[in-house]
Amino acid sequence: MERTLVFLKPGVLQRRIAGTILDRFERKGFRILALKLFRMDKALVEAHYAEHRGRDFYEKLVEYTLSGPVIAMVLEGPEVIALVRRMTGPTDIGESLPGTIRGDFACSTRLNIVHASDSPESAVREIPLFFKDEEICRWEDENARWY
Ligand code: CMP
Repeated sequence: MERTLVFLKPGVLQRRIAGTILDRFERKGFRILALKLFRMDKALVEAHYAEHRGRDFYEKLVEYTLSGPVIAMVLEGPEVIALVRRMTGPTDIGESLPGTIRGDFACSTRLNIVHASDSPESAVREIPLFFKDEEICRWEDENARWY
């Protein structure tokens, strides 16, 4: 069983599509273990996107991520990291096919509306940046024993 960190970026709330995107993850069968709506502060944005520091898009990325509230979540499921990335589509919006979240709801790589951990190492690093351990709510899913 794996966990991944997902957050819906600023703009999703303004567009009133938060429920629509959350619905996709829920219907896929992942378990939501944590969920919160909040404004990321600069320290969190810089820690989260540390690997992109120095890239030409970095300053705008930080500014944009600070521009409004986000909805962050921890999802759990078998191979959830790779499966969620398949659902979001690639970071490059030109490669994101219709049917994926980015392919359906975004037209710009910067405004690609959702972040999802790209590897087990990223998930392990990112989840504690967003959630304290006591904010992660474990619950039983009877279907899970058939996975
Ligand atoms: P995300 O999955 O949150 O991880 C890093 C973010 O940087 C990415 O989504 C995009 O929002 C942004 N990003 C990555 N590459 C580019 C780019 N070439 N131009 C603009 N923004 C980018």
